[in-house]
Amino acid sequence: MGSMVAGAGVNPADQNWPWWPLLPLYPYGRRRTLRRELVPGQVWSFEQLQGVFYVAVPIRMTAIKVDGGLMLYAPNAATAECIALVRDLEAIHGPVLSIVHPSSSGLEHKVGVPAMARAFPGADVWVTPGQWSFPLPLPLSWVGFPAGRTRVLFENGVPHGDELQWEPLGPVPLGPGPFMEASVLHHASGTLLCTDALIAISEQWPELLDLDPTPMLYHGRDHGDEPMDDEPQRRRRGWKRLVLFATCLKPHGVDQVWRRFPFRWRPSWEQDFAVISRGGRLRVAPILEDLVFPRHRPLMSDWLRRCSTLSFCQLVPAHFHAPIRCDGSMFETLAQAWEGGDSDDAEASDRAFLRSFNRQIERLGLVPKA
Ligand SMILES: [Fe+2]
Repeated sequence: MGSMVAGAGVNPADQNWPWWPLLPLYPYGRRRTLRRELVPGQVWSFEQLQGVFYVAVPIRMTAIKVDGGLMLYAPNAATAECIALVRDLEAIHGPVLSIVHPSSSGLEHKVGVPAMARAFPGADVWVTPGQWSFPLPLPLSWVGFPAGRTRVLFENGVPHGDELQWEPLGPVPLGPGPFMEASVLHHASGTLLCTDALIAISEQWPELLDLDPTPMLYHGRDHGDEPMDDEPQRRRRGWKRLVLFATCLKPHGVDQVWRRFPFRWRPSWEQDFAVISRGGRLRVAPILEDLVFPRHRPLMSDWLRRCSTLSFCQLVPAHFHAPIRCDGSMFETLAQAWEGGDSDDAEASDRAFLRSFNRQIERLGLVPKA
């Protein structure tokens, strides 16, 4: 598959994202966008950095060529740069016809939708069922979703149903509202899109981080007085540590997190990365496994099995590596591993924080007990 890149060398003002205080994550008001053509003339990804305390990993919107125009899946921040990159595609492939917010609980995906909807006023907006907000249950129109053109996936139909096949994952009841995401298969390119459910972690950091290596250089240091000089080894260490933070929240390999900088890493941390990344293989995101699915594991295997019957050759999730070359048989293998417990004992120490967090929210009654 070809991979063409756009987004470098633009005016910083075009990367301005004035809505960052709604979800104050790094890099705050400045969001670069990297567009990559994943399937020539059919599938494009738009990646931006997002995170806290320099734990910044790409978040990905995907555009799909559909009959008469384009569909945007999992919108990211609608900066002038990002909109211009979409308009480039519109000039060739037709207008944005639909914008899909494919998650009921992923605030990082929801926060960009209203601005993207305003940028493309002719597009229908689709959302997964059971949208919720916390701490107040605000209607979608109050948080900027256009009431006249927002529809609910599956309940009001699906967009582009003759070219795309939609598969819901969930709903999984959580305390304040459900977890649900909508994956979709683009038949023409054999591309399956998902949001948070599945990831593949590569040793090679994403191209987007080459445009702003600061997060890698920040975490690639071993001592507070170590300079943030840009060296390949520092980038590599930093990327692996970013992965451990982003997937486990508090990795086992770091034994001092908040009290002083820099983080002190145990010698085992690089082995921990190898265990979590599983050599780049497709896997269920640890955060979902430990915080969303402990109480409802069959819902994940049911979705994996439904997807395993589809005809596809690659997966594009909203985080980490993409595209991931895979097919239905790999989903079947994942389903079997999941039903068998999918427990990799080597991961237990890294995921201890997630699992104790899950026990705490259960004890506090924030989520229903298993
Ligand atoms: Fe996400």
